This record gives sequence, structure tokens and C-alpha cells, in this order.
Amino acid sequence: MNIVVLLGAPGSGKGTVAARLAARLPAARHLASGDLLRAAAREGGTPFAAAAAEAMRRGDLVPDAIVDNLMIEQMRSCPPGAWLLLDGYPRNVAQAATLAEAAGRLGGTVRRAILLDVPRETLIRRLAGRRVCPRCAAGYHVESLPPRVAGICDACGAGLVAREDDQPAKIARRLEVYRQQTAALAGWYAGQGLLTRIDGDASPDEVAERVARAVTA
Ligand code: AP5
Repeated sequence: MNIVVLLGAPGSGKGTVAARLAARLPAARHLASGDLLRAAAREGGTPFAAAAAEAMRRGDLVPDAIVDNLMIEQMRSCPPGAWLLLDGYPRNVAQAATLAEAAGRLGGTVRRAILLDVPRETLIRRLAGRRVCPRCAAGYHVESLPPRVAGICDACGAGLVAREDDQPAKIARRLEVYRQQTAALAGWYAGQGLLTRIDGDASPDEVAERVARAVTA
């Protein structure tokens, strides 16, 4: 299992890049912690799901134990030799240490950590304009990636919505949490010689091309 960790602030394009990369790399799997947590919260029925939903509503991090278990459970089913693209996990040094330990146990290695560098005003514009399909989870942006018919999902025809945590106050909180708790991860991976910084302020295809070059070099 060849693990690529995608780092970057909310809106830096981790999910967009991971989806494009997954289509290019052999046997690649895209695991997005936010998507898994939102699905668990929607399903509900456990104290963990309720705690995750509450933290996400605030724009805070979900407790490490919940996220670690969810992600490592998913990693177990990743075939040996496959690429695993981690989008949104790890989010702090404790999660990164847990990931390294679990990867070793499961016969995997973190090959590269990619940090997508994007200016703050671009992050805010991207998050404020994001729309998602509540039925099939396809992602759009009102300016950079609009659907063919405004407000309607190209893939399944459902009405598009803004994510609950893409409201201005929540965006500000998420950016602050990133600064306080996640930004330090770049130094952690740099210290292991694993970090590549990519300018993420370009078209989605161009950014994906830059990341693909860094990952397969
Ligand atoms: P999560 O869903 O991971 O949100 P995030 O990290 O805040 O990241 P986003 O999904 O908002 O942004 P992205 O970088 O993936 O950008 P995207 O490609 O979508 O997490 C949500 C919550 O879950 C967290 O707040 C936390 O509560 C919890 N959580 C998740 N993981 C956790 C963990 N490990 N530990 C604890 N808690 C955790 O792009 C955004 C928009 O920009 C889209 O509209 C897209 O079309 C557009 N766009 C993307 N790239 C470009 C480009 N190059 N040019 C123009 N537009 C672009």
C-alpha cells in the first residue's frame, strides 16, 4: 500500500486533486475523512456519530479516536501494492503518528505528503461557492466548476446544496482550526523528507498534473 497524504487548508483542493489522481494511478483508492465522517453522522445511532456531527457543525476537529478508527478500518481493505490517497487525514501530529504505526502494521508506507498552497482569499472564494449533490455526492463550484443547469446535479439530477460548514462563520472557524492544529503537520512530514509543497492556485487539471508528477517522480 503506497500512501499519499494530501495536506492543505479547507478549500485548498484536496478532494478535487484526489479524485483526479485516483483516475490516473493504478488501483488507486481515494479515502476522504470528511466524507466518511459525514456519512457516519447521517447514519447516526451511536454516541460516536453524534459527537462527530456536533464537532463538524462547529467547524472543529472530530476527536482523534473516532477518526483514527474509521480511517484504519477502511485501510484494512486496501489491496497490497495499491495507491491510497488520504484526503483530510491526518489532521494533527497525533493522527499522523497513528497513521504511520497502522501503515507499518498493514504493510503500507507513507510515500509522500503533498501540501497544497493556496492564498486565503482563494480558499474563502472556493468554499463559499462550493455546491454538492446530496444524493450522489458530486462536487461543483458556482464559478470554476458549474453544473450544466444551475443548481442541478449533472450526474443524477438532484438539487445542489451548500455544505452546512461552508457558511462564512464556519469557514473562518475551520481556517483557524487548520492554522492552530493542522498546519504544523507540514513540518512533521518535512522532517522525514516526505513533504512536497505544490502551488495549488491554478486550474484543477494543472494542480492535479503537478501533484501527479510529484507523486510518481
Ligand atoms: P473535510 O470534508 O475534510 O473538509 P476540509 O478539510 O475543510 O476540506 P474541504 O473538503 O472543505 O476542502 P478541499 O481541500 O477538499 O477542497 P475541495 O477539493 O473540496 O472535513 C470536514 C470536517 O470533518 C472538518 O471540519 C472536521 O470537523 C471533520 N474532519 C475531517 N477529517 C478530520 C480529521 N482527520 N480529524 C478530525 N476531524 C476531521 O474544493 C473546494 C471547492 O473549490 C470546490 O467547489 C472545488 O470545485 C473548488 N476547487 C478545488 N480546486 C480548485 C482549483 N484548482 N481551481 C478552482 N476551484 C477549485
